[in-house]
Amino acid sequence: MSKLPASQVKILVVDDERSMREFLEIMLRKEGYWVQTAANGKEALDLIRKNFFDLVITDIRMEPVGGLEVLKRCKRVSPQTVVIIISAYASTETAVAAMNEGAYDYLPKPFNIEEMRAVIRNALETRGGEEDRPARPGDGPLHFGCLIGESPAMRKVYELIQRVAATSSNVLVTGESGTGKELVAKAIHRQSPRRDQPFVVVNCGGVPESLIESELFGYRKGAFTGATTSRKGLVEAAQGGTLFLDEIGELSPVLQVKLLRLVQDKTIKMIGDTVDISVDVRIISATNRDLEKMVIEGTFREDLFYRLNVLPIRIPPLRDRGEDVPILAQHFLNKFCRQFGKDIRKISSYAMDILNHYDFPGNVRELEHIIERGVALESSSIVLPDSLTLATYKKIRTDSLLPGRPTIPPEGMNLDEYLAEIEKKILQQALQQTQGVKFKAAELLSISFRSFRYRLIKYGLATEEE
Ligand SMILES: Nc1ncnc2c1ncn2[C@@H]1O[C@H](COP(=O)(O)OP(=O)(O)OP(=O)(O)O)[C@@H](O)[C@H]1O
Ligand SMILES: [Mg+2]
Repeated sequence: MSKLPASQVKILVVDDERSMREFLEIMLRKEGYWVQTAANGKEALDLIRKNFFDLVITDIRMEPVGGLEVLKRCKRVSPQTVVIIISAYASTETAVAAMNEGAYDYLPKPFNIEEMRAVIRNALETRGGEEDRPARPGDGPLHFGCLIGESPAMRKVYELIQRVAATSSNVLVTGESGTGKELVAKAIHRQSPRRDQPFVVVNCGGVPESLIESELFGYRKGAFTGATTSRKGLVEAAQGGTLFLDEIGELSPVLQVKLLRLVQDKTIKMIGDTVDISVDVRIISATNRDLEKMVIEGTFREDLFYRLNVLPIRIPPLRDRGEDVPILAQHFLNKFCRQFGKDIRKISSYAMDILNHYDFPGNVRELEHIIERGVALESSSIVLPDSLTLATYKKIRTDSLLPGRPTIPPEGMNLDEYLAEIEKKILQQALQQTQGVKFKAAELLSISFRSFRYRLIKYGLATEEE
């Protein structure tokens, strides 16, 4: 553990007192750690369920869920996590209770920085050795908040997130469906100085224009039939925080104009009102469409595009960052095992082979669903190819494989031997065409993987162990 660089050590700080949270956050960030904060036990437990933390520093007295409860549940879902308790109400009783539940240490408030530093360093150093660390995300594979992936492309995305987070400029996140655009938007918000303010999502697609307008800007009583009271819109709800405009490419021309006003002047008008309301929001928009092309075609306003696209972040499709596939697959495996209460440790190497050669038109979301189904269907202790259901597996053309016109067996060979010879050749050809990927070869021949493997062994083209 001590060998891990500080930037890969993930720490969660839980305290309902904002100044304490900020103090610890600043101090720990200075030391180079990756820090996240939670304002109470409930928030903390949500985070712990979704992420792996090396260390949790938690206050005791918090509503609705206190620090002892955080400690207990944290130890249940993630026994490797080190928990340090801090509290202004130091009493030997709570200290003993905390240590009994597996806390590493108990620090009464106020403590000085040096004290805290030393406790953290010791805690991280005395943690179990590398070998008994669980194979889970955050441990080993590089990640950034909820975003997992070690590919150079993802590292670049993490770097960009960090850089843009510090500013208030508008960000446009682009990428195919399921690449993680919303996660990136959230990560920017969480890293930004606005992190304690709201993060509000507006879906601009699939909702009628009139509805989006009233959702976005709100309305005054009597503005239209049915407006019996005034209602604030989502832009106002995001005051001081981040407004995430998802599927921005779907916005109608009329709404594009209204949005331009918001982006340009940082003011809005409620429907049925004449007064301008000024708002302070950082706008992150996302789309899987090619906005530049839409600008050229005249379906997206150029002025709006440039204002939204001040800082662009492009997330590459999963097929272009193959090295992330096994990491993400293992991450989702752990996630769904926890969710379904199953104990499946591994994805078989054949199954992994299939995933590594799949092109994931639905990107990370599709991989997530594949693993979810796999975990649900699998009854053994590893995920086998049979429990992977790949919706759009690319078929390779089979024409070239068809044997020529059948002839009678050559001299000295009976029909069975001859057929066996042909079958073996076909198997070899299929393997050749699929660069040795057995699953693909089976697909090519329209037989089950099991049957293909049986035949390979029969003809000495594979061994039982393979
Ligand atoms: N790098 C990643 N690490 C972990 N999970 C990811 C990653 N990228 C995407 N996901 C998961 O994949 C799913 C889709 O992600 P998200 O909703 O952010 O994609 P999107 O780009 O907004 O897709 P769409 O264009 O369809 O709205 C989510 O469940 C998300 O948690
Ligand atoms: Mg999305």
